[in-house]
Amino acid sequence: MVMTNSHKFMSVSTSEQTQGKHLTFRREAIGTHQMKEASGLLNTIRQALHWHQVQQDLRQHQHQLQLLEARFRNVINKNADSIIIVNSFGLVNFANPATECLFNCKVEELVGQALFGSFVAEKPACEIDTAIMPGGGATGTADTRIVQTQVDITPRYGDKAVAEMRVVETEWEGEIAFLILLRDITARLRAEEALRQSESRFREQAQALQQALDNLQQTQAQLVQTEKMSSLGQMVAGVAHEINNPVNFIYGNLAHVSQYTKDLLELVELYQQNYPNPVPAIQEKRQEIDVDFIIKDMPNLVSSMQVGTERIRQIVISLRNFSRLDQAEKKPVNIHEGIDSTLLILHSRLKAQPERPEIEIIKEYGELPLVECYAGQMNQVFMNILSNAIDAIEESAGRKQTAQKPQIRIHTSIETEQRKQKTGQKDPPIPHSHIVIRIADTGNGMTEEIRHRLFDPFFTTKPVGKGTGLGLSISYQIVKEKHSGQLKCTSSPGEGSEFVIELPLH
Ligand SMILES: Nc1ncnc2c1ncn2[C@@H]1O[C@H](COP(=O)(O)OP(=O)(O)OP(=O)(O)O)[C@@H](O)[C@H]1O
Ligand SMILES: [Mg+2]
Repeated sequence: MVMTNSHKFMSVSTSEQTQGKHLTFRREAIGTHQMKEASGLLNTIRQALHWHQVQQDLRQHQHQLQLLEARFRNVINKNADSIIIVNSFGLVNFANPATECLFNCKVEELVGQALFGSFVAEKPACEIDTAIMPGGGATGTADTRIVQTQVDITPRYGDKAVAEMRVVETEWEGEIAFLILLRDITARLRAEEALRQSESRFREQAQALQQALDNLQQTQAQLVQTEKMSSLGQMVAGVAHEINNPVNFIYGNLAHVSQYTKDLLELVELYQQNYPNPVPAIQEKRQEIDVDFIIKDMPNLVSSMQVGTERIRQIVISLRNFSRLDQAEKKPVNIHEGIDSTLLILHSRLKAQPERPEIEIIKEYGELPLVECYAGQMNQVFMNILSNAIDAIEESAGRKQTAQKPQIRIHTSIETEQRKQKTGQKDPPIPHSHIVIRIADTGNGMTEEIRHRLFDPFFTTKPVGKGTGLGLSISYQIVKEKHSGQLKCTSSPGEGSEFVIELPLH
C-alpha cells in the first residue's frame, strides 16, 4: 500500500511543483465538494512530502552506512594481520586478504574449510594465555574470553610459518562465531634466534677474551714472580757459593787443627812431667799464659769451632737446596728438607721482635717417601706460605696484645682415599695416596671475602711496597698445574689460618 502511494507520488518530485499546485487549489476552493476534494488532495500531498523526506533520510543513512562499511572494510582489507571468522564447527566464514598471503591460497578456497588441523596447528610446548576482555561478548554485555598462543601455519604451498594467534568469541550472522587474528612472527622469531645466536657468540668471545686476559695476567704474574725468585735464587746461590769455599777450608782443616792441638797439648804435658823445674823464663811464660787453662779450654774451643763450621755448612747446603730454581725436571725430593731449608732462610724473621716474642715452629713431620716434584718450585710455595704466616702473625701482634704464643705448626702425613674407577660402577674403588702438608699459623686470619680472592693474581691487602699479591697465585699454579695437586685454605678472622697442600703420589 505504501509502495503504491510512493509510486503514485513519485511524479510529484520537486518542491516547486508541489507549491504551484497548492496555490491553484486555494484560489479554486468555492463549494463543499470542491473543499473536500481539495483537502483530500492536500493530505495526499502532505503524505507525498513526508514520504519523500523519509526516502531522502533513508538514502542519506544508506550513504553513511556505505561510507562506514567502506571504512571498516578498508581497515580489515589493509590489515597486515590475517583476520578470520570461523563458526562454532571451526569452518571459515570470512577471511581478509592478508590471510591469502599467510596461507598461500585464495579466500574463496578457504571459506567453508576447517581451519584447525589442516592450516593451523598448535605449536608443541607453547604456552596458552587466556584473558578476559570486559564486555564485547557475543551477547554484547557478557565478558569475552581471549585465548592467545603461538601456532604453526601450514600454507597450501611453500614453507611453514609461525604465527601469534588471538581468538575472541564473537557473532556472525546471528550465530556464535570466533574471530581469529593471526600475526606472522616467523621473521621476528628468526631475527630473535639470530640475535640469540650472535649474543651467545659474543658471550663466547667475551669469555675467550676474559680467559685470554686471565692467562695473560697469570703469565705476567708468573714472570714477575719468576724474576723475583730467580734473582733471589741467584743471589742466594752466589752467596752460598762464596761462603762454601772458605767454610770448607776451615771445616777441612779443623780436624787437623784438633789433632795437632791434641798432640801439642800432650807434648806440653809430657814436658811438664819430665821437666818439672824448667828455666825461669819458661816458668814465667807458663804463668803468664795460664797453660793449665789453655790445656783445659783448648778442646772445647776446637769442638765449638767444629759445631760452628758444621752449622755454616748446613746453611750453605740449605741455601743451595733452596736456590735450585733452574731444575728443569721433576725429581724425587725430600719434602721435609725443602721445608727445613726454607725455614732456615726465614730464620731471622722468626726471632723475637720488640712487639712480639719469637715465633715457635712446631714440626709434626710424618713418615714421607720421596715425592716426585720440582724442588725449587715447591720451595717457593713453602716460602710464600711461611712468609705470609709470619706477616699475619706480625700484623696480629701489632694490633692487639694477645696472650697466645705466636706459632707456626707444620704437619705432614700421607692420606689415602678410595676413588671409584671410571670404567664401571661395579669395579672396586682404587686407593689413591697423596701427601698432605698443613701449615697453620696463629696470625690474624682473614675474612671470607679475602679467602675467596686469595689466589687471584695481584690480590694483596698489604701496603704498597710490602706485598705484590703474587705469592699465593704463583703457589696455586705450581701446586695445581705443575704437580696436579691441591692448595686450599681455611681461615676466619682472629682465628689464624691453615694452608693445606696436597701432592699426589704416583
Ligand atoms: N696466613 C695468612 N693469614 C692471613 N692472611 C693471609 C695469609 N696468607 C695470605 N693472606 C692474605 O692473602 C693476600 C695474598 O697473599 P699473597 O701471598 O698472594 O700476596 P702478598 O703476601 O700480599 O704479596 P707477595 O706477592 O709479596 O706474597 C695477602 O695480602 C693477605 O691478605
Ligand atoms: Mg705473600
